[in-house]
Amino acid sequence: MDSIYIYGGNFLRGETKIQGSKNAVLPILAASLLVKGTCVIKNCPRIADVCHMQNLLQELGCLVSWAGSTVTVNAFHVNDSRMNGESVTRMRSSIMLLGAVLGRLGEVAMAYPGGCVIGRRPIDIHLSALRDMGVEIGEQDQLFTAKAKKLHGTELELPFPSVGATENVILAAVTAEGTTVLKNAAKEPEIEALCGFLKEAGADIDGVGSSRLVIKGVKALHETKYTVPSDRIVAGTYLTAALAAGGSIFLENAPAGQMKALLAVAEKMGGCVTVNGEGVGLDVIHKLNAVPYLKTEVHPGFPTDLQSPLMAALCLARGESIIEESIFENRFRIVGDLQRMGAEIKTVQNKAYINGVEKLQGTDVEAEELRGGAALVVAGLAAEGKSVVKNRHFIERGYENICKDLRNLGADINIG
Ligand code: UD1
Repeated sequence: MDSIYIYGGNFLRGETKIQGSKNAVLPILAASLLVKGTCVIKNCPRIADVCHMQNLLQELGCLVSWAGSTVTVNAFHVNDSRMNGESVTRMRSSIMLLGAVLGRLGEVAMAYPGGCVIGRRPIDIHLSALRDMGVEIGEQDQLFTAKAKKLHGTELELPFPSVGATENVILAAVTAEGTTVLKNAAKEPEIEALCGFLKEAGADIDGVGSSRLVIKGVKALHETKYTVPSDRIVAGTYLTAALAAGGSIFLENAPAGQMKALLAVAEKMGGCVTVNGEGVGLDVIHKLNAVPYLKTEVHPGFPTDLQSPLMAALCLARGESIIEESIFENRFRIVGDLQRMGAEIKTVQNKAYINGVEKLQGTDVEAEELRGGAALVVAGLAAEGKSVVKNRHFIERGYENICKDLRNLGADINIG
């Protein structure tokens, strides 16, 4: 029922269009709370996490509607600052609402956010930055509470460029009193998208794309329209599928400029990458080379979200690859399943040593989280025979229709 069935071992051939970005749309939807009116957000992916965010916005009093891939949020009446629903605990990005609700109402009470099981994922950096902006953090009825008599700008330096904490500071700062200078901010493209949306709505933000943001608080934001950029991680996942299975694919709308680290790896492995104004192509004709050493890093380094999908491809590369995971401590959960498919992988702390094998064998595997689940699909496409990836609901948190997309690329894959 909750599974994906794959008959693997065939080359991929074809083209598919890349959906809107999950990690961009979630904070943008949260940001729409700051606009006392209507925001029209185009190119939204219909994925489980976006539906959770929609539920949360509705709990807070927003009217949210879909027309095709366009979401309209009317946040004129936002009066409830309590969020204890399942949507909070099921999705890490519900933490985005902390900065947004604080900016709108000055207080919030919410359950501790959930999300993927890829690490401890604390929120200390978020809370410490918000405290500096005048927020008092407490706990009440098993919810955590945040209150600010007046949010005020200040000078902040994050101890680590956390994506979520950067987004929360931005959301709290755009309508705070005075100027916020945020140093060591995350530079992920999704931060640029959030700032792009907020600037369209009248926010005053300088330094977008750099690690130093200067945000001058404005009195109010106004109604706006915005188009969410394409999802670099979804595009990256499909590129790793071609690296694993071989073939010739084209990904329409793939944001090549945001994918430089992966494209460089694909070329080093021996793939032939082409980039034009419409997207990204990849040809993989021969057996690929291993990657002697790769470390996940903050943007523009190699993204942690593509570490597992790439690992699946490296299982079949010629020679030994070493991957060091430096962002999340629990992102090798797929190793056991890959080994059962015939992969030779050894892990020592946060390093994985992958010795390329001739072939993988299809088998039943179980997704435990979003990107790891997608990586098992990648492995299934490259493996000979039938693979069943159970728990597809994890994958559907981030991929609108992974089976359809991969069928467009010639794969034999279906849900069941
Ligand atoms: C976001 C992305 C996720 C991606 C990650 C890193 C969204 C919805 N999710 O997650 O797909 O994998 O960036 O690129 O955009 N940390 C702390 N304390 C904090 C905050 C973070 O210790 O207060 C640690 C985390 O445990 C983790 C690291 O910092 O080890 C990175 O986390 P962060 O950049 O905040 O990632 P997320 O925003 O959760």
